[in-house]
Amino acid sequence: MKVLVTGGLGFIGSHTCVELLNSGYEVVIVDNLSNSSIDVLEKIEEITSKRPKFYDIDVCDKEEVKKVFRVNKIDAVIHFAGYKAVGESVREPLKYYRNNLDSTLTLLEVMKKENCHNFVFSSSATVYGNPKELPIKEDFPLSTTNPYGTTKLMIERILADLSKADKEMSIIVLRYFNPIGAHKSGLLGENPRGIPNNLMPYIVRVATKELEMLSVFGNDYDTHDGTGVRDYIHVVDLAKGHIKALEKCVRFKGIEYYNLGTGTGYSVLDLVKTFEEVNNVKVPYKIVDRRPGDIDACYADPGKAYEEIGFKAELGIEDMCRESYNYILKNKSD
Ligand code: UD1
Repeated sequence: MKVLVTGGLGFIGSHTCVELLNSGYEVVIVDNLSNSSIDVLEKIEEITSKRPKFYDIDVCDKEEVKKVFRVNKIDAVIHFAGYKAVGESVREPLKYYRNNLDSTLTLLEVMKKENCHNFVFSSSATVYGNPKELPIKEDFPLSTTNPYGTTKLMIERILADLSKADKEMSIIVLRYFNPIGAHKSGLLGENPRGIPNNLMPYIVRVATKELEMLSVFGNDYDTHDGTGVRDYIHVVDLAKGHIKALEKCVRFKGIEYYNLGTGTGYSVLDLVKTFEEVNNVKVPYKIVDRRPGDIDACYADPGKAYEEIGFKAELGIEDMCRESYNYILKNKSD
């Protein structure tokens, strides 16, 4: 079975390509390298001893996407490509709506024309907004707090409408909680350009002394130690969730939604302490004001994904901390 992976050289996309190749799928990657590096292709090959086909094209470019479908008989698409920085999306909403919606519509139109009916979409727990209850179940009300999140929710709505109109389509929407960690080889991981926005990439830069100190955004939340609680999931577990989703996708028609999380919440300080312990390194921090838009706590009810597609996260917070650091130590530019 041949799978087209858009954004396949990104953080989650690259780990998913490894799992697909290791499970015997043929992989075709489309990535415009806007937030990824071509070196990742070599790393995927080094880990799997297989070289996926690669196209350096933009998913918004319909003619180019058509060519990829004509040259390769694509059976299913996993769509990761998209902009994902929350703060930037607030400053430049049109850029986010144009890119994230256009790329998805283009792909879906080409898929229809080329008779490809299997689609797995990278959504986010951000679509649950500020949940009234925890843990979060898939049927909770949806809302968003920023344009990035709104692009995810709008795409979910488009997919729901498409599924009603086109009974041939098989669509799985995966709502990710907070992916961190890296491949245990140290070859793949997350290394954002510039100053990181997210917690784990910031912690590792403080640990390597590239940044002086972590700012902990608020210690007066309604959580066990006052700092924000999130459901951190190892990126390799998350990648494996896509294989389970694909297996389901090809054996049903319609649309389904699954949380990909562990079901356990850890606070900012839990993560800092575990990181310090497992890596034997200091992460100096100071408590600062809350970051606008942040919520107290967010963690998944992972039950539906377990019952319906057999997905269960296996790696713990220690593995996530160890591998995130290991990756940066191996890939640090001195
Ligand atoms: C955010 C986005 C989410 C997106 C995810 C990954 C929202 C509300 N959240 O999740 O959609 O999928 O990033 O890109 O849109 N923190 C600090 N100091 C820091 C950084 C973070 O204390 O320097 C805290 C935050 O307040 C939060 C926790 O760490 O409590 C996790 O933050 P982060 O890694 O940015 O992820 P989210 O905000 O949960």
